[in-house]
Amino acid sequence: MKRGAQKILFVASEAYPLVKTGGLGDVAYSLPHALAARGADLRLLLPGYRALLRQLDKVRILGWLDVRGAEGIVSARILETRHPDFKFPLWVVDCPPLFDRPGNPYVNAGGQDWPDNAERFAVFARVAALLAADALELDWQPGVVHAHDWQTGLVAAFLADQPARPKTVFTIHNLAYGGYFSHGDFVRLQLPSYWWSSEGIEFHGGFSMLKAGIVYADAVTTVSPTYAREITTPEFGYGLDGLLLSRAYKLHGILNGIDTAIWNPSTDAFLPAHYSISRINPGKRRNKQALLERFGLAADEAALQEPLVGLVGRLVEQKGVDWVIAAIPTLLAETDVRFAILGSGQAIFEQKLTRLMKQHPGRVFVEIGYDEPLAHLIEAGSDIFLMPSRFEPCGLNQMYSLRYGTPPVVYRTGGLADTVVDTREAALADATANGFVFDTPDVAAFLAAIRRALELYRQPAVWRRVQQAGMGRSFDWHDSAGHYLSLYST
Ligand code: ADP
Ligand code: GLC
Repeated sequence: MKRGAQKILFVASEAYPLVKTGGLGDVAYSLPHALAARGADLRLLLPGYRALLRQLDKVRILGWLDVRGAEGIVSARILETRHPDFKFPLWVVDCPPLFDRPGNPYVNAGGQDWPDNAERFAVFARVAALLAADALELDWQPGVVHAHDWQTGLVAAFLADQPARPKTVFTIHNLAYGGYFSHGDFVRLQLPSYWWSSEGIEFHGGFSMLKAGIVYADAVTTVSPTYAREITTPEFGYGLDGLLLSRAYKLHGILNGIDTAIWNPSTDAFLPAHYSISRINPGKRRNKQALLERFGLAADEAALQEPLVGLVGRLVEQKGVDWVIAAIPTLLAETDVRFAILGSGQAIFEQKLTRLMKQHPGRVFVEIGYDEPLAHLIEAGSDIFLMPSRFEPCGLNQMYSLRYGTPPVVYRTGGLADTVVDTREAALADATANGFVFDTPDVAAFLAAIRRALELYRQPAVWRRVQQAGMGRSFDWHDSAGHYLSLYST
């Protein structure tokens, strides 16, 4: 390790490929790698979920930390491990009563929040704060603690009044998830009573762990410049817009990058055929064929000509899934389009999509679940990608689709607005147009944008230019990692 390298404790509740429920997992993997590549000395701290522990090979016990839980003291064993996918040590909080359980990190099998989430993530944050102060005397004290989303919001709060503490940076990946808990939880967890105020973490009679991060961190970031502006307005602020506006001096919008080694159409191990900007077809066509066959359609020449529209994502209102469900029958009636959809989320959306698949065999393909290889195949094998999110802090899927030559249709919001350039005359002329953007949050505007996409799809020369504009744009972490590093050191 280089002498004088910046020491950073990265604290997150998920990280690809060990545990991932969404884009946070991708970022908690790829950002620290980008920072490490620039010389940072990192540790990534994660909760010891059952599924995560099972993937670890050799672990070393760093020590034990006793912290306050909801009903007394909780003992956590701190593990260190080297994992082949990580270029820096992982630290894991092994606390079986809180984390050794099956399934999703945040919700039970019925999709309900784990009832003890307040305790789980308060304990995780207390442990993180102790490790940041080198409570185990490991002779490794970070200069910066970088925590992510509500699950780690209390880390900055626990550190705030410590002497000689590291700088704290808190990143909001999604303001819609505030980590709200009751006054009863606040009392049970014995959080400091002076936090209980509107200037602290109190929020409408309960408290918010996300708010704790905003109030107590030295710097707050979010994952795109446009979202950083949006969250200071009532429309996107979830009641925290006033607070965020008052903290504008320490709020920064830094666009996420993507892992360009994992998401690379010319090397992607999940794809049956590879392609690149200089030769998109026939590689892309072979992926389309594989995708159609994956869903049971014998992909003849005609089927390969007809447009295939893909979607991958959490099936929740944020993602505009209801608009997609409303648009599909109209589009099926007026064109020869097909849909390939992968996702899981709210039961109502899963049911409606499954019903559409049954009503339109051979035209609508739906896979409910989480499937990394299929996600890659849909990005590569579709012609057009749908991501009509009502709000989108950054969004990674649209960047993957741009890189895979699959122009996205997006609503002009957050990171979608910062990455997708609409296919209008001027942008087409200067070859920056890479997708289709609509400006009114409704089905009619969404449909109009898809129709524009389908029209251009029929003009191969123009279409190729749009694909190339997306594939040629750089979405790597280089610049953004530089922004974080300069934020850490100021
Ligand atoms: P969000 O974090 O809001 O869910 P992003 O676009 O930032 O949205 O990131 C979503 C990430 O999760 C992407 O890497 C995407 O490929 C992945 N993903 C979402 N749903 C699924 C799924 N059902 N199967 C596989 N990958 C998925
Ligand atoms: C959140 C956001 C998404 C963002 C991701 C990673 O899940 O919903 O827009 O890309 O975090 O920052």
